Amino acid sequence: CGIVGYVGPQPALEVVVDGLARLEYRGYDSAGIAVLSGGRLETEKRAGKLANLRAALEQAPRSADGIGIGHTRWATHGAPNDVNAHPHTDGDNRVAVIHNGIIENFAPLRLELEERGCKFTSETDTEVAAHLLSQELKAQGDADLTAAMRAVCRRLEGAFTLVAMSVDDPELVVAARRNSPLVVGRGQGENFLASDVAAFIAHTRDAIELGQDQVVELRRDSVTVTDYDGNPADVREFHVDWDASAAEKSGYDYFMLKEIVEQPQAVADTLLGRVGVDGTLTLDEMRLAPSELREIEKIVIIACGTSYHAGLIAKYAIEHWCRIPCEVEVASEFRYRDPILDRQTMVIAISQSGESMDTLMAVRYAREQRARVLAICNVNGSTIPRESDGVLYTHAGPEVGVAATKTFLTQLVACYLVGLYLAQVRGLKFGDEINAVIEQLANMPAQVERVLGTVGPVRELAHSLADSGTVLFLGRHVGYPVALEGALKLKELAYMHAEAFAAGELKHGPIALIEDGLPVVVVVPSREGRGVLHDKIVSNIQEIRARGARTIVIAEEGDDTVRPFADELIEIPAVPTLLQPLVATIPMQVFACELALAKGNDVDQPRNLAKSVTVE
Ligand code: G6P
Repeated sequence: CGIVGYVGPQPALEVVVDGLARLEYRGYDSAGIAVLSGGRLETEKRAGKLANLRAALEQAPRSADGIGIGHTRWATHGAPNDVNAHPHTDGDNRVAVIHNGIIENFAPLRLELEERGCKFTSETDTEVAAHLLSQELKAQGDADLTAAMRAVCRRLEGAFTLVAMSVDDPELVVAARRNSPLVVGRGQGENFLASDVAAFIAHTRDAIELGQDQVVELRRDSVTVTDYDGNPADVREFHVDWDASAAEKSGYDYFMLKEIVEQPQAVADTLLGRVGVDGTLTLDEMRLAPSELREIEKIVIIACGTSYHAGLIAKYAIEHWCRIPCEVEVASEFRYRDPILDRQTMVIAISQSGESMDTLMAVRYAREQRARVLAICNVNGSTIPRESDGVLYTHAGPEVGVAATKTFLTQLVACYLVGLYLAQVRGLKFGDEINAVIEQLANMPAQVERVLGTVGPVRELAHSLADSGTVLFLGRHVGYPVALEGALKLKELAYMHAEAFAAGELKHGPIALIEDGLPVVVVVPSREGRGVLHDKIVSNIQEIRARGARTIVIAEEGDDTVRPFADELIEIPAVPTLLQPLVATIPMQVFACELALAKGNDVDQPRNLAKSVTVE
């Protein structure tokens, strides 16, 4: 969910709604605001996208007193309708609350409150917090919203960010966080709260990262942070280096289209300052000393969604370059299977947002087991890097489109850097190969640019396939995770049935799916090094084509062996095998994006998805 809070001299309603617009990618099945208008608490909330809320606000214009909170929702408890949208108020309309996360003990609390006479209007867990706050305020003689918030938080279980305002203190917004994201933006005579910095970078780039179980009191001229017992708390101040324009569409119809085009720059930015002219890598910010890296005996990569696919590719690279056993697992499964971890295990948590709850919980579990945790993240100030031993930021800039594109490529670059650095630090025998790959890696922004220049025909192809029921994807070696990512993009954006298989598994079952005209996208391994796999997949292409498949083949430029069997041929530059995902993924992104557009879908905000899933 997206959260915004504001206290200051600007028109609060505009500041809050603009902030929500920048956070809409975090959730968009409903949106709402609360402001004080002439001392009265006013709320407006609407199911659907922010546009619905804006329309409602236009119909009933109101002035605001310099304080406001807002929310875009990704439903957990209760359907996405007007009533369940946030903010929620207490029965007397004196307190408004917005919430991100899940209050796990909401059922007994609701029962208790109902027994005390509270009337609930929604099905949400959040309304419990509104009533509890109100009861707490009454018990204290309406004195102190901050103290009431602390008392309420002590009673809540689960993960939450709560933000509240009250008619009794018209210059105060109070927020609390446990396991859900929250950052503060510090302005001159005004202050901001949000679930990420994108909401306020148009106003200030000075931010404060809040820690676990902290409560923040926001007034025009002060930001006070305490723990749940009221003791002063440690916080980290940081400066946001994204500028506001990076989070604009800059003339593109969709953020996703812009973010695809930004990939050469994003890849270059992730490499920047990390590769020396002599090929020596500098990754000091990892905060893991070379001596520690030499002790590592096993690597476990945990991630979700697209980040998981980056992890799958990293395994091939790390095992090959470093000869360290490497497992990859979806974060939501990891801690529930009693994994074997120790001090010699390095866990790499890959997360664009740095907030995915599944990944965060896996990180905590890994640290409890004494593993060293390295985060690969894109968002500075987010929770996963803060809770890890070390971090490598991807520097892709803000990604607003819900489906990951440029952050995936930069995650790959970061994973390659980690693998190559480990190999360097551990002095492995593939010195020449490592140096050659580093050189090629430095050249990848240009290769990515070249692919973008040649994807025009992919657009036409996508439009011609808009009515297909299913698309299959095949790959081998690092091409297999690329195929998985291609299928995921198509599901996310075009809402189509898409499945990926390791091409070698085809004959063990999936080949039964092949029928006349079925589109099958095949990622052909590079000919360099792994020529055997290349030839095997060419045979696979013939096998499916003989059974009627329409073959869409992604292969290296000049690979004439595939040409006779390709109904459609998409050429990509020849690069070292392990780096091929950086170029092979791009046609798949364009394919899914265009196919979704051909079907009239909103590619920035696909149905049912949120960019940052902060519930488990
Ligand atoms: C959500 C998004 C996906 C993303 C996944 C992991 O499900 O919709 O696009 O890949 O979360 O996100 P993270 O921020 O941890 O990389």
